Amino acid sequence: MKLPHHLSVKNGHLHINGLDCIALAEKYGTPLYVTSEDRVVEQFGSYQKALGARYPKVQILFAAKANGNLALMRALAQKGAGADVFSSEELSLALVAGMAPEKLLFNGSSKTPADLKLAVEKGVKVSLDSLDELHQLDAAAKAAGRKVKVSFRVNPALNVPTHPKIATGLATSKFGIPHEEIPAAYREAFACKNIQPVGIHCHIGSQILDIEPFVRAAEVMVRIAKELTEMGVKLEFIDLGGGLGIPYHHDTDPAPSAEDYAAKVVPIFKAGVEACGISPELWVEPGRSLVADSTVLLTRVNSTKNAHKRFANVDAGFNILIRPAMYDSYHEVIVANKADAPLTTEYTVTGPICETGDILAKDRKLPELAAGDIIAVLDAGAYGYAMSSQYNGRPRCPEVLIKGAQAGLMRRGETISDITAAMERPAWQQ
Ligand code: LLP
Repeated sequence: MKLPHHLSVKNGHLHINGLDCIALAEKYGTPLYVTSEDRVVEQFGSYQKALGARYPKVQILFAAKANGNLALMRALAQKGAGADVFSSEELSLALVAGMAPEKLLFNGSSKTPADLKLAVEKGVKVSLDSLDELHQLDAAAKAAGRKVKVSFRVNPALNVPTHPKIATGLATSKFGIPHEEIPAAYREAFACKNIQPVGIHCHIGSQILDIEPFVRAAEVMVRIAKELTEMGVKLEFIDLGGGLGIPYHHDTDPAPSAEDYAAKVVPIFKAGVEACGISPELWVEPGRSLVADSTVLLTRVNSTKNAHKRFANVDAGFNILIRPAMYDSYHEVIVANKADAPLTTEYTVTGPICETGDILAKDRKLPELAAGDIIAVLDAGAYGYAMSSQYNGRPRCPEVLIKGAQAGLMRRGETISDITAAMERPAWQQ
C-alpha cells in the first residue's frame, strides 16, 4: 500500500515521523490518536505555495471543525492560518490558539443570539446564512455600538461527486442563500446601518476528488462578484470554501493536490476579479486536506472470532471514529506490529459499541491476528476525534502530537470522572 512519507515500516512495525507506533501505543495506551505536526504544517505550506504563487493576496482559513485540538490550531496559527469557525466555542479556540480575529470567519446556518454577540465583541467577520440572521446581527452590532463586516454564504446549486450527507452546495441543501437571490441580500445589507458587506462565501461539499466542481464554483462566485461590484459592493474577500478530498483508498483514489486545485481555480478567480477591476483577498477553508493524513488511530485487538466471517474486535468503535458508520467511509488499516507480514486472512474490524453498525473496516485482507495486536487506522486526522462521543459510557481517548522525533500528549484520555463531571443530582434526588 502506498504510504505518505511521514509513515514508514521498519522491523515489521509501522512508524510515524520515524517513531514506532507500537512503542507509542504501549506508552500512552489505546485507543490513541497520533498526529504528525510536521505533516499538517507541510500540507498548509503546500496550499500557501500553490495559491501564493498565483495570486498575491491569499488567506487560508483552517476549517476548525475537522480537528479542533488547540495544539494543532496553534501550529497552524504560527504559520499564518486563520480559521473557519462554526460555533462560539470554535471561535474561542481559534483565538486561544493565537489566530488573529481578522483572519476568522464565523460561519453557521443556525447561529444563536449569543453567537452573534460574541462575533461582534471579538471583531470577527460573519458569514450570514439568511436575511433573518442579517437583521439579528445588525441589532447586535447596534447594541454594541459597532459595525460588523460580513459576507453572505452563497448556495451555488451545484451537484458534486461526494457522499450526499456532505454535499453542502446542492440547490436543496440547508446552507446559504440561493445564488440568484444574493444581489437582493446585499441590497438589504446596505440598508442595515451596522453592517458592512465586504465578502462572499461558498462551500460546495467535502471529500471531492475532482477539481472540476471547484472550477464551477469559482465561476459562479466571480459572476456574483461582478454583479455585486456593479451594485457598489466593495469586495474585500471572496471565500471559495474547502472541500478538497484525500485518497482514502491509497492505491486507487485520485489524489488531487493543492497545486492541482490552484492551477485550475486561481486562473478563473484572477480573470474574474480583474474583469471587475477589483483585487479582493482570495480565501479558502480547507479542513480535511490539511489534517486527515497526518493522523493514525491506534486500536488494540481485544479478541478474534470466527462466526459467519472472521471478526477482529478492537477497542475503538464509532465512539472514537464515526466516519465508517456514518458515511460508510473507507479508511486503510495496517496491523502496526505485523506491518510487513503477508496479508493472508480476511477480517472485519469491529468496535466495542453495542450496535451492529459498529464496523471500522469491512472484509480486509490482513495478517493472521491475535489479541494484543495493534491496528492502525489511517487518515484519521479529520472528523475523527472531532466527532467522537462518550456513547456506551466510554471515555474519549488521548491524542498525541509528534514534531520531529518528539512526542507529547495534546489531549489526555478522559476517565469516568470526565463522564460524570457535568452530571448533576436533581433536587429530588439529594
Ligand atoms: N468550510 C465550510 C463552510 C464547511 O462546511 C466545511 C465542511 C469546510 C469548510 C471544510 O471542508 P473540508 O475541506 O474539510 O472538506 N464530517 C464529514 C465532513 C463534513 C464537512 C462539513 N463541512 C466527514 O467526516 O467526511
